[in-house]
Amino acid sequence: MIRLASAAALLLLLLSVSAGLAAGRNVIRLPSDASRFFRAGDDGGDDDSVGTRWAVLIAGSNGYWNYRHQADVCHAYQLLKKGGLKDENIIVFMYDDIADNEENPRPGIVINSPDGDDVYEEVPKDYTGEDVNVNNFFSVILGNKTALTGGSGKVLESGPDDTIFIYYTDHGGPGVLGMPTSPFLYADDLIDVLKKKHASGTYKSLVFYLEACESGSIFEGLLPEGLNIYATTASNAEESSWGTYCPGEYPSPPVEYETCLGDLYSVAWMEDSEVHNLRTETLHQQYQLVKKRTANDNTAYGSHVMQFGDIGLSKENLFLYMGTNPANDNSSFVDDNSLRPPQKAVNQRDADLLHFWHKFRKAPEGSSRKLEAQKQFFEAMSHRMHIDHSVKLIGKLLFGIKKGPEVLNAVRPAGQPLVDDWACLRSLVRTFETHCGSLSQYGMKHMRSFANMCNVGIRTEQMTEASGQACARIPSGPWSSLSRGFSA
Ligand SMILES: *[C@@H]1O[C@H](CO)[C@@H](O)[C@H](O)[C@H]1NC(C)=O
Ligand SMILES: *[C@@H]1O[C@H](CO)[C@@H](O)[C@H](O)[C@H]1NC(C)=O
Repeated sequence: MIRLASAAALLLLLLSVSAGLAAGRNVIRLPSDASRFFRAGDDGGDDDSVGTRWAVLIAGSNGYWNYRHQADVCHAYQLLKKGGLKDENIIVFMYDDIADNEENPRPGIVINSPDGDDVYEEVPKDYTGEDVNVNNFFSVILGNKTALTGGSGKVLESGPDDTIFIYYTDHGGPGVLGMPTSPFLYADDLIDVLKKKHASGTYKSLVFYLEACESGSIFEGLLPEGLNIYATTASNAEESSWGTYCPGEYPSPPVEYETCLGDLYSVAWMEDSEVHNLRTETLHQQYQLVKKRTANDNTAYGSHVMQFGDIGLSKENLFLYMGTNPANDNSSFVDDNSLRPPQKAVNQRDADLLHFWHKFRKAPEGSSRKLEAQKQFFEAMSHRMHIDHSVKLIGKLLFGIKKGPEVLNAVRPAGQPLVDDWACLRSLVRTFETHCGSLSQYGMKHMRSFANMCNVGIRTEQMTEASGQACARIPSGPWSSLSRGFSA
């Protein structure tokens, strides 16, 4: 037995050496690296076997309490840059209000982990401020320069041999993703854009990584197979995703930070990608590893990472999308999750409250900063109560005291889309916002309730009446402002 094993090891070594030589590199490969030569139908993704790698990175929020989304995106840029992608092929959307924010304890610097380096330096500012919007995001994906408003004008000018990587990190809700501008993004529009992109024949395969609450609902029952798209999401269709490196949690950011530095799923894939040789790690291996880390030992502080679309693509190497950092050439794939204690994480929806709370707690007694933090905390809280209360009341007005909550909270079986009639969903949301004020980032959590109303046949006129009764007027708080929601 021993003899057989060592003979096998020798054979493996010989094969790896000859494979290394055949590939024109006079190096001895580690067995883990050699393993790719045994995989049938895998060309290994050597430099000359792929077209151009393109990437679109987007942080869909603004505000210092949402620090982590832009930090995630900046970090992703650094990773891809080290992987060998060129600036002309990486398109970045970020509001860009973090590095120079008055709350930022390290002016001009953005970090994505407690002892992490600056990730802000040299990030291209393709679409910033008001230019971070749904129209520009879609136009960039479709390569339609004439449809752009503002920005650098960079779009995906990809060809049939090229690969595309899209990474989106933000707040979300069932069937929707946030934007720092109004309106937010509806899932059916995104799927239409991806279908159009596929029909234009301008990519070989596309990988979509998505971090947001209820992010599974963006693709579930919506993203068909056959578009050569592989997507993974931070959470399933009915749960929140999680911020990490938050003040007061473990691991904690440096004491001077009163905000979360990253998101659980996002730092999981990035911290994995940046230590491995991505020529040998597959999308599937990363999916498994990220799923395990994001589940966070199945504590309450975690979510279920999901995959959608052409799952078969996940046997490909990450190298095809992210390149690889030459400094990691000798590192073999290891699942280092076992070394990692569960992290304390914060529900994405509560990360703003956490920021206001820590700001309040640390501000000197009687300072204007303390007053400001208190005001911000109460404004956020009263917006939440107003939205929760209004939606609940509308449910009762439409379906009765007992049946209201039942209809609103129903979840369709797995594999089905959130709603069949997206026009109805848009109309009910618009009607609600007209009477009750903007849903804003927190209110996105109620999208399933509106979807369920459509699914049982509620029409706009009924919604108008119920919303009018439930909301006598729009509250004056900043979160209710109609510039913060769907109804642009
Ligand atoms: C690009 O966008 C413009 C403006 O929305 C539109 O009229 C045009 O048809 C689009 N072009 C393509 C090729 O889709
Ligand atoms: C990888 O290992 C080879 C052979 O030992 C060595 O020549 C090379 O410098 C190493 N590369 C890196 C990036 O450490």
